[in-house]
Amino acid sequence: MGTTPQISQFQVPSGFIDLGLGDPQFSLLPLDMISQAAFERLNQNDSVFLQYGANQGDGVFRQALAEFLSRAYGFSTASESLFITSGASMGLHLICTFFTHPGDTIFVEEPSYFYALRIFADHQLRMIPISTDENGLVIESLEEKLVGSRPKFLYIIPTYQNPTGRTLSPERRQRLESLSRKYGFLLVADEVYHFLRYSGLPSVSFAAGAEAGNIISLGSFSKILAPGLRLGWIQANSSIIHRFVDSGLIDSGGGMNPFTSAIVCRVLESGGLDKNIEKLVAVFRNRVAVMDAALRQYLPDVEYTPPMGGYFFWIKLPGKLNATEFEQRAKLFHVGFRPGELFSCQGGFQDYLRLSYVFYESDELEQGVLRLKKCLEKMVEKI
Ligand SMILES: Cc1ncc(COP(=O)(O)O)c(C=O)c1O
Repeated sequence: MGTTPQISQFQVPSGFIDLGLGDPQFSLLPLDMISQAAFERLNQNDSVFLQYGANQGDGVFRQALAEFLSRAYGFSTASESLFITSGASMGLHLICTFFTHPGDTIFVEEPSYFYALRIFADHQLRMIPISTDENGLVIESLEEKLVGSRPKFLYIIPTYQNPTGRTLSPERRQRLESLSRKYGFLLVADEVYHFLRYSGLPSVSFAAGAEAGNIISLGSFSKILAPGLRLGWIQANSSIIHRFVDSGLIDSGGGMNPFTSAIVCRVLESGGLDKNIEKLVAVFRNRVAVMDAALRQYLPDVEYTPPMGGYFFWIKLPGKLNATEFEQRAKLFHVGFRPGELFSCQGGFQDYLRLSYVFYESDELEQGVLRLKKCLEKMVEKI
């Protein structure tokens, strides 16, 4: 007998609540909308999307995406400034491939998205951490690091950051852009959570300054539609876009994901993406409130600020408790999370953890936090 094939990346044992999962709940994936869009597109008697795709991404799709972005960002976005990717992860990989060499220095937020750090490690980049606080990247920390070295790029998740949920303030955005121009390094802005805003004012996407040539903005359909589509975009000025478009990879295989692009194009044209974002925002806004209430009730000694958007709570444990040890013990209580250390390129944040609310219903979120409380009580008893 062969081994059972893995049908998805999910291997959460039944009854276990993994608050570390940053993947949308299966019931929030818009199966009906995708099914309808696919049906309509497949019945158009037009097989162009089964052919190798245009290098930059299908023109009709880029136009529909540009219209969506212009409306959603509140400034005009040209379809020529977009390059279609198979997700932000692929975008990061391509940026490393075309703009760095092994051994180059890059700057990253401390903490940052752990898989991005893995992609940078794959490319053998030297990562220098830049401190963050409640308002995102600390500009003084960046200025200090710029005295000693010049990065190829600075990787930032400016809005509803992973893992902290925090957003870079408008004043810091301006200072960051001017430093990037002054010192000649690229700003790689990973904006995958940008549209998931539950409270507070909207932020201006870094895409607004992309024409200047020092900014690459990454977007994705993973967080606002479905990760399995493997579809995203890069927005940048034309010389950067042409580094991707004129590459051997794209010349050989054609533009990314023409089949999926054609289906998502229908979703965009029908207004389905706007509706889906509206729905996700309503669901997640409620879950933030539920998780916040559960944390206040069961874990009054932890420190955090409820996120205004995105996927995550970033929690500081009391009394320098070690989150990795806590995670090991929490397994016995059938609950999981991501320890803070995972998000540091220098072994920091050992007393922090990241919780997510996107994979579970409200009652499971409450139950998960209650289990954390029980585990923490036992752990503190033993100290
Ligand atoms: C900040 C950030 N960037 C990129 C990704 C992955 O995006 P994609 O699915 O588009 O590759 C994630 C997913 O968790 C993320 O949090």
